[in-house]
Amino acid sequence: MRIFSLATTGLALASATSAFVDDTRDLRWRTLSGKMTQLVGHRGEKAFMPEHSRASYWQAALEGADYIEPDLGLTKDGHLVVNHNEWLSENTNVASIPELAYLRANRTWVDDGKSKTVTNDWFIADLTLKQLKLLRISQATNYSWRPQHFNGVFDILTFEEYLQIIRNVTIELGRPFGVIPELKSPKLYNVGRSYPRFFEDRAIITMNHYGWAQVTKQIDGSKHTDLKLAPLRPLPKDAKLGPSVWQCFDQDTAAYLAHHTNVPVVALNENLPWFFTPKGLDRVAKYAKIVSPWKDFFVTGAEAYFKSQNITWDAKEIAKLGGFIAPDRLAAEVHKRGMALSPYTFYDSHQNMNYLCQKGVTPQSKTKFCPKDKADEFFYFFAQGMDYMFVENIVEANILRTFYNNKLEREQKRSK
Ligand SMILES: *[C@@H]1O[C@H](CO)[C@@H](O)[C@H](O)[C@H]1NC(C)=O
Ligand SMILES: *[C@@H]1O[C@H](CO)[C@@H](O)[C@H](O)[C@H]1NC(C)=O
Ligand SMILES: *[C@@H]1O[C@H](CO)[C@@H](O)[C@H](O)[C@H]1NC(C)=O
Ligand SMILES: *[C@@H]1O[C@H](CO)[C@@H](O)[C@H](O)[C@H]1NC(C)=O
Repeated sequence: MRIFSLATTGLALASATSAFVDDTRDLRWRTLSGKMTQLVGHRGEKAFMPEHSRASYWQAALEGADYIEPDLGLTKDGHLVVNHNEWLSENTNVASIPELAYLRANRTWVDDGKSKTVTNDWFIADLTLKQLKLLRISQATNYSWRPQHFNGVFDILTFEEYLQIIRNVTIELGRPFGVIPELKSPKLYNVGRSYPRFFEDRAIITMNHYGWAQVTKQIDGSKHTDLKLAPLRPLPKDAKLGPSVWQCFDQDTAAYLAHHTNVPVVALNENLPWFFTPKGLDRVAKYAKIVSPWKDFFVTGAEAYFKSQNITWDAKEIAKLGGFIAPDRLAAEVHKRGMALSPYTFYDSHQNMNYLCQKGVTPQSKTKFCPKDKADEFFYFFAQGMDYMFVENIVEANILRTFYNNKLEREQKRSK
């Protein structure tokens, strides 16, 4: 057993500020901190660059994201890498590499309480890092309006490379950026490892090394002696690292991360009915500092959303937990428990806004909201005090945030 020491440098919990707007004034944003909504670059800057590529992360930084999001997977030989899907055919050229043909497989695993099956594909968990580095990333072909110029240019990065890039943009652009890794499918990535929390502990050790996490409860380092982490590029004297946050759909892993590090945890969810009740949120508040539902939960609400997805629940159990929280009460109920909010995903304006756009079906819900454009969509969420939002097209989101800030400023002046 070895206890990982506290990081000696740089664990800055100061919040990142936008490149474009001075957010230090009190303009009555209804967030927990009273500051403006923090923009999280979803998979980097996905609207313009192949997601999770080094270009995507740099572009997110240049556009003034507050946080830049990586999704984590684990290779067969134990390297943490960044990619959204657990499988590879959708956003890489894996199918065209003859030497990897033999690794095509079917897999079934549990993610966010739901069983998921992917057939005839290639999986990060089955490839070594060396094999994965043969691949090149592209935009998924069904996003035809996105720039395709960079398809085939970038390789899949390791988590370390991601952290080095965030350190680099912090130094080179002269402002902090938040890191917000999401551990994808721990129930898949921990299969066949030497112990059940292998994936989580690797992520913790790596974050600790880079100064973005302190370990608060002993973890077993003896299974990770093969992990050779690179030396850190020194930070200039006046530079400060941005904040860090974990995310996970798996509630067990979310609780584990919260109990083993000082890093706040985002509990992601769109599949667990108990989660969207008063007693459910009480339970979540024991480990999560931030709650992140799919944005429809603030529009049509849990019941309508679950029905649309054929997700069933035990009515008696939900009633015992206090019933589903109405969509227009959800933000207040989360804030009341001291947790921040971080709904996903806000696409760029080329894309369908993906609302059910129907009346919520809970008796107390009167909500019907079909935003007519991006400003309408963003302002609805800003007005409810979202603390963070996962956005694509960060420039667009940043401009809308500025417009909203100006609106608050005008209202404040008028009321004086
Ligand atoms: C995946 O399963 C399907 C049928 O369920 C089968 O036809 C196919 O051969 C399997 N693919 C692989 C790579 O094992
Ligand atoms: C593109 O395809 C993926 C995988 O089938 C799907 O998840 C995504 O929603 C699709 N996007 C669009 C814009 O059609
Ligand atoms: C970070 O910056 C250093 C110095 O310019 C460079 O050598 C290194 O390759 C960069 N790291 C990544 C992952 O881009
Ligand atoms: C839900 O079930 C209906 C009826 O079986 C089906 O038509 C629909 O596609 C399902 N929706 C989802 C999201 O699975």
